[in-house]
Amino acid sequence: MSKQNEVVVTEVFNGALSADDLHQLADTLEQAVAQGASIGFVPPFGHTQALAFWQKLIPGFISGDRRLLVARLNGKIVGTVQLAVSQPANGIHRADVNKLMVHPDARRLGIARSLMEAIEQVARSAGKKLLVLDTISDGAAQGLYTSLGYEISGRIPDYAMSTAGELEPTTVMFKILE
Ligand SMILES: CC(C)(COP(=O)(O)OP(=O)(O)OC[C@H]1O[C@@H](n2cnc3c(N)ncnc32)[C@H](O)[C@@H]1OP(=O)(O)O)[C@@H](O)C(=O)NCCC(=O)NCCS
Repeated sequence: MSKQNEVVVTEVFNGALSADDLHQLADTLEQAVAQGASIGFVPPFGHTQALAFWQKLIPGFISGDRRLLVARLNGKIVGTVQLAVSQPANGIHRADVNKLMVHPDARRLGIARSLMEAIEQVARSAGKKLLVLDTISDGAAQGLYTSLGYEISGRIPDYAMSTAGELEPTTVMFKILE
């Protein structure tokens, strides 16, 4: 990849996000939802709501309960994923992978794959042995997770409402970290 299109994935520690970072994260979320992403939100969903989503998570990033990775394309955040490491006492060996998203203008560049590989390293370093996630069934992300070694646990019909207002199935997946 040329310098002009340089992608850098980093972890954001202690919730150290600048105002620009927050707006870029909010833009990524807002535009992903506008393009139909099934990541928890339905229209109307604008920049203010997207910003509020990120701001609400900051305490968890500061405490370390949630780990945050961002991908920057030429310096600007265009992708992100989270790892919910804080679990009940009987589940400290596992973590949930949440809210993988890439800005629609930066897709098919391998950014999501890089984020997923990096979050797995974060999980391994934190001593995690099991990763769990769910995703809209048969969507783009399911193919990515399968290629990364995630297995299908099951499929839940009518789990979430799409941005078009229809109920869609979700697929629960897991990966055992050797
Ligand atoms: C799913 C998403 C994160 C992929 O991001 P991306 O950076 O474009 O993905 P990558 O370029 O890293 O592609 C990785 C793999 O994902 C799959 N994939 C990505 N986009 C795809 C598409 N439009 N159709 C089919 N498969 C796709 C492919 O398996 C691809 O591997 P390949 O390029 O070797 O074929 C992105 O489309 C997105 O943000 N979607 C909306 C939010 C979402 O659904 N998040 C998942 C939450 S569980």
